[in-house]
Amino acid sequence: MNLRQRIADRARSARLRDGTRVFLRPLRETDLSHAQEYFASLSEQSRYLRFMIPTPTLTAETLAQAAKTLHEVGAAITVAVVDHGDREELIGGARVVPTDRRGIAEFAVSLADAWQGRGIGAVLLREVVRLGRALGYHHVEGLVLTQNTRMLTVARRARFRVQPDHRDLSVTIVSRALHP
Ligand SMILES: CC(C)(COP(=O)(O)OP(=O)(O)OC[C@H]1O[C@@H](n2cnc3c(N)ncnc32)[C@H](O)[C@@H]1OP(=O)(O)O)[C@@H](O)C(=O)NCCC(=O)NCCS
Repeated sequence: MNLRQRIADRARSARLRDGTRVFLRPLRETDLSHAQEYFASLSEQSRYLRFMIPTPTLTAETLAQAAKTLHEVGAAITVAVVDHGDREELIGGARVVPTDRRGIAEFAVSLADAWQGRGIGAVLLREVVRLGRALGYHHVEGLVLTQNTRMLTVARRARFRVQPDHRDLSVTIVSRALHP
């Protein structure tokens, strides 16, 4: 990584209530080799809440989808990392991808279990809004399991609209209009 890239990567960060600084940067090709490690940092429950089905292993398909966003128009993944000096720890991410509805993107966020409950969810949702705007969408929308009350709390606080999916009440639709 060259110096310019390092400076750009360090440009966006958030300070948590406990003082920890979390950096936000675009997913890089080299991060994919750490994907299994990140997946292992998610409990069975967190994987279920993120993927909405039991997900015991990180499949080649999921990895290929992440790799695709590196080059896909209208798609982006931001990763959240903590700098431990000698190494960077990947602790979470926010993903925005196109839907077949013009101007509307789908998003998802996830955090390693050890980093949940520290206010990073709100940081990731702000990043979803930033990415959505930067990519030119007028709405971002995510599907959340209705049982995922923590995510719904974070979304409401971040001024997302939270409404049941009338086709399937186990799912809640979380959306936000992206006015410039
Ligand atoms: C959902 C997720 C992104 C939330 O991020 P987070 O940083 O853990 O959330 P926070 O710690 O900021 O919690 C936000 C608030 O929810 C509240 N909360 C925690 N658990 C809760 C629960 N079970 N029910 C209701 N509210 C809850 C907390 O009180 C907290 O408020 P506080 O900041 O005043 O203490 C994260 O937990 C996660 O990655 N979960 C697994 C994957 C997932 O669910 N992804 C969403 C699919 S799009």
